Amino acid sequence: MENIRKKFMEVFGNSDVKPREFFAPGRVNLIGEHTDYNGGNVFPCALSFGTYAVARLRDDKKVKFYSGNFEKNGIIQCDIDNLSYDEADNWANYPKGVIKIFKDHGFEIDRGFEILFLGEIPNGAGLSSSASIELATSVLLKSLFDLNVDMLGMVKMSQEAENKFVGVNCGIMDQFAIGMGKKSKAVLLDCNTLNYEYAPVELGDASIVIANTNSKRKLVDSKYNERRTECERALSQLQKRLDVKSLGEISIEEFEANKNLIENEIDRKRAKHAVYENQRTLMAFESLKSGDIKRFGELMNESHISLRDDYEVTGDALDILVELAWETEGTIGSRMTGAGFGGCTVSIVKNENIEEFIKNIGEKYKKKIGLRADFYIADIGDGARELI
Ligand code: GLA
Repeated sequence: MENIRKKFMEVFGNSDVKPREFFAPGRVNLIGEHTDYNGGNVFPCALSFGTYAVARLRDDKKVKFYSGNFEKNGIIQCDIDNLSYDEADNWANYPKGVIKIFKDHGFEIDRGFEILFLGEIPNGAGLSSSASIELATSVLLKSLFDLNVDMLGMVKMSQEAENKFVGVNCGIMDQFAIGMGKKSKAVLLDCNTLNYEYAPVELGDASIVIANTNSKRKLVDSKYNERRTECERALSQLQKRLDVKSLGEISIEEFEANKNLIENEIDRKRAKHAVYENQRTLMAFESLKSGDIKRFGELMNESHISLRDDYEVTGDALDILVELAWETEGTIGSRMTGAGFGGCTVSIVKNENIEEFIKNIGEKYKKKIGLRADFYIADIGDGARELI
């Protein structure tokens, strides 16, 4: 924090107004992938690393953004009464979008301010650096302008900023996990109703290990939207017989009895994933609660196979990292996490085997893919907040 404060003063200079400090975590999803926008369940947790923000009100109407992760872009500036998407503003469109959406919802934000961000989440790794910056912006707006808004409201507006301002059609999982996350707990969220329940992540003699493929995610936005469309088409065909509003409301039995209504085989596979993954997520939640970590791991493995074969969002780098984990001693379960097409895997690994896991898989992955994999032992932290 000391360094971030120093950097803030270097970039924006001294003033009588004391800057305030904020933090929003990254997230890792344990299971329930590509189910959020299908009205299903997800089971993510917030990480202990994320995005720091230091912010200070100004006397004029200027908003100034600076990121320690994009120093080349320098200070990006706009007017509080004129917030529109600008390609040239690059990363700053995320916080700009959040401010714009808050204002559209009638929150009084009428003065300028300056923010310095510093993120610890690798970009494009599928650990939600973008939702993290959105929630950091939300909590700082609430504090600087003393706004009457709760965390769920901020989660929804952050998602809206990404959907409408940035133009990425994401579901609500990332913003929810980052806003509502709790230390040492994962949160089961029903994305249809937004009902949620926390479960302690007690893994006994094992830990969560995240592995970054460092493989640049390609076409992720267009493929993501394509999957959404395929699922929507499958749903509309199932609705000819089933009285449901989303794939998340369909049981496995109902799906099997009605899947022939889906005309296209690819759409059928996508819908199958959404339906089965949703049920797997509910089972995984129960297994964790009852301490059956072995079962939890098996469900993670099944999730990966379904994402690979039916949803087709993995790719070589993720598949190899997961397969290497599966054949390594001490792995209880392993799967891709996040949107896919590169990014990270999440594994549950016995503590006594972690060192070997990292060494072995790192070496073999490098040989097969030609890239270095990075490993992090995940520590589950609290959601977005002001640091006092
Ligand atoms: C991205 C999106 C989320 C979710 C996941 C896939 O992270 O932002 O809303 O759809 O992909 O589970």
